[in-house]
Amino acid sequence: MKIVTVLGARPQFIKAALLSNKLRKRNHEIIIHTGQHYDIEMSDIFFKEMSIPAPDYNLDVGSGSHAYQTAEMMIKLEKLFISENPHLILLYGDTNSTLAAAITAAKLQIPIAHVEAGPRMFDKTVPEEINRIITDHLSTLLFAPTPKSKENLEKEGLKEGVYLSGDVMLDLFKYFSQNANRNSKILEKLGLKEKNYILTTVHRARNTNIKENLKAIIGAFLEISAEEKLVFPVHPRTEKYLKDYGLYNALNENLNIEIIKPVGYLDMNILTRNSKKIVTDSGGLQKEAYFAQVPCITLDTSTGWPETVDNGWNIIFEEYKNKEFIKKDKIIETIRSFKPKGKYSDVFGDGKASQKICKIIKNYN
Ligand code: UD1
Ligand code: UDP
Repeated sequence: MKIVTVLGARPQFIKAALLSNKLRKRNHEIIIHTGQHYDIEMSDIFFKEMSIPAPDYNLDVGSGSHAYQTAEMMIKLEKLFISENPHLILLYGDTNSTLAAAITAAKLQIPIAHVEAGPRMFDKTVPEEINRIITDHLSTLLFAPTPKSKENLEKEGLKEGVYLSGDVMLDLFKYFSQNANRNSKILEKLGLKEKNYILTTVHRARNTNIKENLKAIIGAFLEISAEEKLVFPVHPRTEKYLKDYGLYNALNENLNIEIIKPVGYLDMNILTRNSKKIVTDSGGLQKEAYFAQVPCITLDTSTGWPETVDNGWNIIFEEYKNKEFIKKDKIIETIRSFKPKGKYSDVFGDGKASQKICKIIKNYN
């Protein structure tokens, strides 16, 4: 079967790493990189260190407004979908690259397989929520990572072609942890000790573009740094706003905060597993914190992964949804006091999601 996989952003390269190599054993896969992420540390590093097959095409769309990015991708994807004429388009997650490919494929009547179908934040002010809903409703094969995701799809009337596959991110986490143990030197490089630092990432539009929120978050980090070491790999979006809002220097000058460029998956895996707490707004990192059983403080108003909250490993800041701002003191207090309940269940599957997805795609053929 001929499959065209469309990738564009960091979490998608990561999610495709195992599945792509598995699919290629029986299928002809073409990878299109939209160019949504383009810095070496946001893109190339993952292809290299995770042995993801090199993209056959790069659309070089780059950054821009939602409409610009999505529209440019659609125009370029349409040409390639027509010339490549695949049996199936394979998509991951919830980025603008996912949305652009879904709409383009649906209009050309090419079936879509969506990996990570069904998580919902129940908040349409989050751009990714819009991307997820539309992509799910246009897909033929929907791979739900968790029972809750499957339930969400059912409630939206999506029952046919829906499979509870488990989460490919758990497969990866298991698979690459050994490799990371052998190859990452990040703890030595940053002079970190196991379970002796807080790992943080911030990149959601709500937390970066809105000055009050970014100021509160950084204010909390600066204050907490008097008692805890922090490691902060900074997403380029966040770096831009930190500099625009005059917040970067204080972080950079703080000796207890390691503010670093984004790191590759192996370094991130080691940083995650050895951290004492994680403070993040990343969907993927919330899950990885759960896999590693590290307490997670989520700087967001809801999560697509409520299982991590129900099991007591994750806590959400619900109160800054309706134009409220996140509060610095609340962040500090939560970082200090949050203790996980320590319950762990296999809601993300058994680490064999990629295998299951391959099999279902084979049977679909
Ligand atoms: C995108 C996804 C988000 C995902 C995130 C993963 C959408 C709507 N959002 O958000 O779901 O969690 O990727 O990291 O698709 N930039 C660079 N270099 C790069 C990439 C981005 O400098 O290689 C800067 C640009 O200033 C750009 C900004 O980051 O405008 C935002 O990038 P964009 O891809 O639009 O959104 P993300 O915040 O990365
Ligand atoms: N990640 C990484 N390097 C970093 C920050 C994150 O490899 O510097 C990984 C992280 O471990 C997870 C994925 O990127 O596997 C999550 O992607 P991101 O936070 O960009 O997007 P989201 O999951 O929120 O869509």
